[in-house]
Amino acid sequence: MGRGMNAYDVIARKRDGQTHSADELAWLVKSFVAGEVADYQMAAWLMAAYLRGLTPSETLALTMAMTDSGQTVDLAGLPRPVVDKHSTGGVGDKTTLVLAPLVAACGLPVAKMSGRGLGHTGGTLDKLEAIPGVRTDLSPAAFRDQVARIGVAVVAQNEQVVPADRLLYALRDVTATVDSLPLIASSIMCKKLAAGADAVVLDVKTGGGAFMREVEAATDLARTMVRIGRGAGRRMAAVVTDMDGPLGAAVGNALEVREALATLHGRGPADLVEICLALAGQMLALGDRAATAAEGAETAREALHNGSALRVFQRLIEAQGGPTNFDGDGLAEAPVRREVAAGEDGVVQRVDALAIGLLARDLGAGRATKDAIIDPAVGVVVHRKAGDRVRRGETLATLHLPRPDADGVESAIEACRAAYTIGPDAPLSRPLIHAVIG
Ligand code: URA
Repeated sequence: MGRGMNAYDVIARKRDGQTHSADELAWLVKSFVAGEVADYQMAAWLMAAYLRGLTPSETLALTMAMTDSGQTVDLAGLPRPVVDKHSTGGVGDKTTLVLAPLVAACGLPVAKMSGRGLGHTGGTLDKLEAIPGVRTDLSPAAFRDQVARIGVAVVAQNEQVVPADRLLYALRDVTATVDSLPLIASSIMCKKLAAGADAVVLDVKTGGGAFMREVEAATDLARTMVRIGRGAGRRMAAVVTDMDGPLGAAVGNALEVREALATLHGRGPADLVEICLALAGQMLALGDRAATAAEGAETAREALHNGSALRVFQRLIEAQGGPTNFDGDGLAEAPVRREVAAGEDGVVQRVDALAIGLLARDLGAGRATKDAIIDPAVGVVVHRKAGDRVRRGETLATLHLPRPDADGVESAIEACRAAYTIGPDAPLSRPLIHAVIG
């Protein structure tokens, strides 16, 4: 393989709308990671791929080449199948904190590799690390051992996993080529394939707070990723879920951990519970623990209400360095809280997830730059959501703030109020689950 190949010819073929062979894409990715194809050549190919598109077989071959560019997790020796889930990112999306122990409590091993917050979206690792002592930098061996011992582990992707994705993403980020369906799908799926699970359930978000705002685009992305996973021999399902408003009430790391705990105690917000049960149903069906997703969701509902999911969560936290029997103790609390009141009577039409996500990030819950330090205590709790009737002066949301700095406080309150649209009539309700690809 590779004899006679050169970057110029590969770029020209994609520029002219031709189809690459799997060998050609494997050569391109390998040579790029080795430094033998220059950044400017890879950038040109990315733009050609952006404009010309990639066929399903090219997208699969690209994903496999990216997966093979680094370390992959070997889950040999574990009871199979092992399942993983992935969310394309949202605001208030603490689903993994509930779902991973929930599915493990139903007898299906969960091996989850997670990421950090990006832009206005939160990251599972940042949420877990809000718990005192919790570590997510497990080695592949420790990851596998923990899944064998307690049925669940949630770890950070290390530097040795999919180096091609890191290098390609950095180029895409500065060459206006991020927003390409096959490039996004291959970037997400190479990380899932490298993490080793036999079955993967994707939670593809859509709406104003999501990467894919339109339902059709999100559904296309979901289908493309399911096809890649199946092409690589994995069992796959995807659920397209709503991210137009924040999920649940809490946005911010320690706040979201508290809401996940309340959910594991059977007192979760309805939207979060519904999404967790739908995803759990898909995972249990894919993993042969239920005949159908609906039956799996019922099994999961039981585990959420009988305390078994909570006990697995507590074992997970302890195994990863956190307190024994963790139930919220030691979580950071913000020094200042301010309520945001409704300016008028009416019905909440929309709570803008993007605006709330950006506000939480600016308060310190996320990173405005790659190396910014997160404040686990801060964030926003939305008490009123789309469809709720409110009266002027009633509390819409509570801000959890880092310090009583007058200017910042007033502008944060204004930003939060501006995230709410209030009108006279009930809004058209958006479904929570837009599509299921099973
Ligand atoms: N998330 C990823 O991991 N990669 C992309 O390209 C886009 C979103």
